[in-house]
Amino acid sequence: MKIAVAGGTGTVGRLVVEQARAGGHEVAVLSRAVGVDLRDRASVERALAGAEAVVDASSVGTTSAATSTEFFRAASGTLLAAAASAGVGHAVLLSIVGIDRNPNGYYAGKLLQERLFQEGAVPWSILRATQFHEFAGQVASQARLGPVQLAPRARVQPVAAADVARRLVDLAAANPQGRVADLAGPREERLDRMIRTWVHRDDSRRPVIAVSIPGPQMRGMREGLALPGPDATIAGPTFDEWLSARR
Ligand SMILES: NC(=O)c1ccc[n+]([C@@H]2O[C@H](COP(=O)([O-])OP(=O)(O)OC[C@H]3O[C@@H](n4cnc5c(N)ncnc54)[C@H](OP(=O)(O)O)[C@@H]3O)[C@@H](O)[C@H]2O)c1
Repeated sequence: MKIAVAGGTGTVGRLVVEQARAGGHEVAVLSRAVGVDLRDRASVERALAGAEAVVDASSVGTTSAATSTEFFRAASGTLLAAAASAGVGHAVLLSIVGIDRNPNGYYAGKLLQERLFQEGAVPWSILRATQFHEFAGQVASQARLGPVQLAPRARVQPVAAADVARRLVDLAAANPQGRVADLAGPREERLDRMIRTWVHRDDSRRPVIAVSIPGPQMRGMREGLALPGPDATIAGPTFDEWLSARR
């Protein structure tokens, strides 16, 4: 079948693309890097032609609720409207565990994005996953202060983006299922330790300082609001296993 992947050049999106192709599916990638801006309805409709399912793995790098809400309203709103008129039969969304317990900052936009899928015209599935193992590198690259690496404190139970991608491809190839079981990795970790390990993986001596970032979203993550519940599906390697497999 033909699967479209919005954000198909991103951290998880490119793995969705790889695994969908490996599974014998035809894939259409939607990202600005390949000339498709999700806010441009005409180009999104062209990219969706013939697709039976679309996976939304797009994102915006922000901690602002206003920026996140504005992005997902425009990008996912346009994607869903274009999918409906292109006759796409299934829209699959990747969301994040705990966003309704902690609806602040970036999560405000994710909550709106979930609502757009639930209330839209295209039959849908929503998978919430915990932070990726790759999240350590994503946060590290945004939290450098001169020669110093800041490492925000948070409780997380990370999962490899590859395992999330596998689940998204399986969902896209099946019938719409609504909200499915959350997906998490096997072990709770401290985000500051993950960042320290990530930064020092290549023997870098950059000093790493653990910090408590102010604001409700990061406070909520320190309090454990991003952790999965007992019904979550557990998949893949621990952070340390994942990191050693990359070496
Ligand atoms: N990172 C995590 O730990 C994590 C955990 C659970 C769930 N999630 C969710 O998973 C999704 C993907 O996250 P990620 O970390 O993989 O994101 P990412 O690496 O930041 O990638 C974002 C993708 O969105 C595309 N994009 C951004 N603006 C666009 C636009 N206007 N038009 C078309 N494409 C656009 C980017 O491509 P271009 O720049 O080329 O446009 C890129 O392919 C997000 O919804 C996130 O909330 C993330």
